[in-house]
Amino acid sequence: MSKLKIEGKHILSGEIQISGAKNSAVALLPAAVLAKKKSIIYNVPEISDIKYLIDIMKLLNCEVEHKDGTLYIDSSNLKNKPIPEELSVQMRASYYFMGALLAKFGKVEISFPGGCNIGARPIDIHIKGFEQLGATVDIVKNRYTITADKLKGAKIFFDFPSVGATINIMMAAVGAEGTTIIENAAMEPEIVNVASFLINMGVKIRGAGTKRIEIDGCKDLDNGVCEVFPDRIESGTYIIIGALLGDNLKIKGIIKEHIEALLIKLKEIGVDYEIDNDVMTISKCENLKAVNLKTLVFPGFPTDLQQPLVTLLTQAKGKSLVEETLYENRFKNTYDLNRMGAITNILTMNKLEVKGPKNLKGTHVIATDLRGGASLLIAGLIAAGETEIDNCDVILRGYGNLVEKLSNVGAKLEITE
Ligand code: EPU
Repeated sequence: MSKLKIEGKHILSGEIQISGAKNSAVALLPAAVLAKKKSIIYNVPEISDIKYLIDIMKLLNCEVEHKDGTLYIDSSNLKNKPIPEELSVQMRASYYFMGALLAKFGKVEISFPGGCNIGARPIDIHIKGFEQLGATVDIVKNRYTITADKLKGAKIFFDFPSVGATINIMMAAVGAEGTTIIENAAMEPEIVNVASFLINMGVKIRGAGTKRIEIDGCKDLDNGVCEVFPDRIESGTYIIIGALLGDNLKIKGIIKEHIEALLIKLKEIGVDYEIDNDVMTISKCENLKAVNLKTLVFPGFPTDLQQPLVTLLTQAKGKSLVEETLYENRFKNTYDLNRMGAITNILTMNKLEVKGPKNLKGTHVIATDLRGGASLLIAGLIAAGETEIDNCDVILRGYGNLVEKLSNVGAKLEITE
């Protein structure tokens, strides 16, 4: 099990370049199997989920070359094969092969996806959507076999604007006859990134990024080119680090519109920053104030930044109240934060109280999930002494070149086996 060792309290200055978004990239790769033959995806992050997705694409007979952050995919000889459990459980995004292969072949066989253990994370909305397009879904134990002689465009109303279901149904709808309308669709930037890729392949999609998306089925797709948007969650994480330790730290590759909810919350906390085009300059801020926070779907405050922000709130004066509305189990990091000296109390399953400011002290902790791990990383960077984070591989799932990026701006950290 890999360990991340951090020596705390170093001031950070210099530049951090934001990578391509994990949650866009992991959908863009499966989408590439829809292209006629070749796809190029620029700005792909160096994270382990990408490696596993490439393994699945190779299993499906795609040729994949990964060079300098660009993926060259040739799916001319694509074959539909069952995706084994040992690959599908490596990450959540394996479920995007459901929509993509269903559109392409009218059949897909795959096990329930993996991903961080932050709640039950059912996929009923995806399944209901496939069925409404005319597919039959057989579930035996964990294994899903989805088949359709013919997919037919339909009007689908989501009970909840799920990111994964919106992307999956958008891809399946490409293989359907006629137009599919998704009402109450998710509006996250990832949806727009995937829709732009499909549009580049010749699919007609209207409304991506709004609550209503229309997709016209398309049999004759072209090759595809796209660029992964900068990662809004990685941006937010480094911004929080900058607010705690920056000395004119520059964060490059910011899309302001993608992180507006965070920026507004930071102002309320008393964090100051400057943004010039896509570069933010941020320095350590004093006199931080407690706030109330509620996670919501985009454009609300993203659940994926809740845990990193909780670490910032341990340094804010007063009592903050955090409400997590997306996942049932996203406060696991607070156990270790408290062991480092924070005062947080889980009031109910989805409400957390944070009292600050508290000085944190380095100790031995465990990353239980990606963003919880990021929260401990931030805590380790501001804590006195040394922090050791066990199971740090989960953090590297979402933060490419983490050690290099932070070391370059003056942090002291290393990964040991
Ligand atoms: N949900 C259902 N049924 C479904 C689908 C979702 O009940 O069929 C529920 C989930 O259980 C959850 C909520 O709806 O409570 C949100 O789920 P959503 O489908 O929107 O999320 P996801 O597609 O599973 C992606 C990201 C997550 C991110 C969410 C929200 C990927 C691979 N994962 O998950 O990223 O939290 O959208 O933005 O894209 C992370 O990066 O740390 C992470 C967990």
